[in-house]
Amino acid sequence: KKYKKIVKIEKMEQIGAGIFSIWLEDREITFEATAGQFVSLYCRDGSRLLPRPISICEIDKEKGMVRLVFRVAGKGTEEFAKMKPGDFIDVMGPLGNGFTLEGTKAILIGGGIGIPPMLELAKELSCEKQIVLGYRDSDTFLKEEFEPYGTVYVATEDGSIGTKGNVIDAIKGNDLNADIIFACGPAPMLRGVKEYAISHEIKAQISMEERMACGIGACLACVCGKKEKDHHTNVKNTRICKDGPVFYIDDIEL
Ligand code: FES
Repeated sequence: KKYKKIVKIEKMEQIGAGIFSIWLEDREITFEATAGQFVSLYCRDGSRLLPRPISICEIDKEKGMVRLVFRVAGKGTEEFAKMKPGDFIDVMGPLGNGFTLEGTKAILIGGGIGIPPMLELAKELSCEKQIVLGYRDSDTFLKEEFEPYGTVYVATEDGSIGTKGNVIDAIKGNDLNADIIFACGPAPMLRGVKEYAISHEIKAQISMEERMACGIGACLACVCGKKEKDHHTNVKNTRICKDGPVFYIDDIEL
C-alpha cells in the first residue's frame, strides 16, 4: 500500500558535501516501508511537476518516522535541502519492491548516493554482514552509522581512506566471501558487481535506483532491458520505478 500525502519534517541536517539527511514523520508510510524502497518528493514550485525519488535510509517504526538521505543534484533537491524541521512536504510512498532478506553471509555494497538504502538493510538483515562502502574521497558520510551492524570496509577513488579504487578492489583486497550480495550505486559499479558475482557464483540483488527520474512511472527515463519476456505483457522492457528498483542480477540488463 502506498500513500500520497503531506507530511511533517522532523529533522533536517547536512551530513556531507551536498548530502542531506531528512526525517519525515508519518505512521502510515513508516509502517508500510521496507529496506530498499523509496519515496518520491514533490516540489512546492509548480513548474517542476514531476517528483524526485529518494531512497529510504532508515525506518523507525516506534517513532513513526522514515529517514531519507539525498545528494543535491538540481533545482528540486536544492529546494528540499533548504527545508526546515516543522515544514511540510508532499510525499508519495513507500514505492518500489525493496530487498528480499536472505543469505547466511552477506556483502552489502553501497557506492556514493547508493549508500543510504544499505543502512536500513544492514539493520534488518540478521546474518553475518560485511559492508563495503565506496566514496570519491574522505567525505565518508554515514560510515560510522554502519559500524554497529557489521564489519565496514571503505574504498575511495582518491585513496584517502581504505582501499584506493572501487568497491570491487576493496572486496578483493580484503578477501571477502559471501553467499549473497546486495548492492546499490551507479551503473559502472553495478556492472562490476555483476561481473564479480557471476565469476564467483554468488547470488546478488541490486538496486538500480540511480537510473530513476520521477519514480512514479511517468517519465520513462528508467526503462531498462530484462533478460526474460514478461509472461503477461510479452515485452522485454521494464520500468525500474515500477518493477524495481531491486532486481536479481541475472534478471536485468545493465
Ligand atoms: Fe519516471 Fe520510472 S522514473 S517512469
